[in-house]
Amino acid sequence: MTFKDELTSKTIETEETVKKYLPKEEGFQKTVIEAMNYSFLAGGKRLRPLIMNMTYKMFGGDSSLIEPMMAALEMIHNYSLVHDDLPEMDNDELRRGMPTTHVKYGAGMAVLAGDGLLNYGFETATKAFDLCQDLDGYKRVARALKVLGSKAGIYGMIGGQCLDIQAENKKVELGLEEVRFIDLNKTAALLQCSFMIGAILAGASDSDIDLMEKLGEYVGIAFQLQDDILDITSTTDTLGKPVGSDDKNGKVTYITFKGIEAATQEQKKLSKDAVDILEGYKGKEPINEEARTFLVNLVESLVNRKM
Ligand code: IPE
Ligand code: IPE
Ligand code: MG
Ligand code: MG
Ligand code: MG
Repeated sequence: MTFKDELTSKTIETEETVKKYLPKEEGFQKTVIEAMNYSFLAGGKRLRPLIMNMTYKMFGGDSSLIEPMMAALEMIHNYSLVHDDLPEMDNDELRRGMPTTHVKYGAGMAVLAGDGLLNYGFETATKAFDLCQDLDGYKRVARALKVLGSKAGIYGMIGGQCLDIQAENKKVELGLEEVRFIDLNKTAALLQCSFMIGAILAGASDSDIDLMEKLGEYVGIAFQLQDDILDITSTTDTLGKPVGSDDKNGKVTYITFKGIEAATQEQKKLSKDAVDILEGYKGKEPINEEARTFLVNLVESLVNRKM
């Protein structure tokens, strides 16, 4: 099987897994649940739960304990997108080739759908406790929850989004250091979650978990650089979201300072650093080589991603 075929089949598998955890569209609160599921089911690469699962496997994990965490992170990612697209934030009307949640349901309902996905994400994550066999399992799930909370919050994704919108049209003067802070937090933080939680639930050591945090940093910043590049070089048809969104909002990105060429080089360098971590990894315990190879191929494929 080529890597492309493997990626397609694993993405479908991931999609099936995370979908199982969606709430039923019923009750007086039916509309908010519909709006949550609308954004969640619109497609997407399912990159974060896929990476989480493969990292879990790489460190020897082999139970369904990882599943609620995969679904939870994908819910939190989707909440971040629903809010990111709102008129008061990036004001974008297309996501994954479909009208954004506020276009379909109105801004008030989109705010609630985002809140709903965030809360239900944590509710879903705690379902992992029901799958624990022993105290050690409980401790791992508790540690994973702590990472999920902090990387999604003010010391993670929300922190990055804060500076991102404040800097629009140079309302706050930014330098490269601040842009790095934005990319590390608004985007890399949730990818760090994927690698770290996979390792934590598989019982990896503290130093391996730290290594996964570094890996997520490199992959995540590279991912945002490519997102910024595609915002300029791609088409709305290919991306499924409006190109030129950053320019429209006067966003300050790495490209603002260094240009597309340098952003491409930096992206490639970060991806190489990430691959070096994966390929150079030697733990005390043997790891699952198939999962490692898949992750190496995945990171390398992100450099040239078109959407
Ligand atoms: C989009 O994330 C937001 C960024 C962090 C750049 P993805 O590109 O992973 O979005 P989907 O889930 O595949 O649509
Ligand atoms: C998004 O950054 C990061 C989030 C936390 C959602 P962007 O605003 O560049 O993401 P897109 O381009 O809208 O997907
Ligand atoms: Mg944004
Ligand atoms: Mg946006
Ligand atoms: Mg973008």
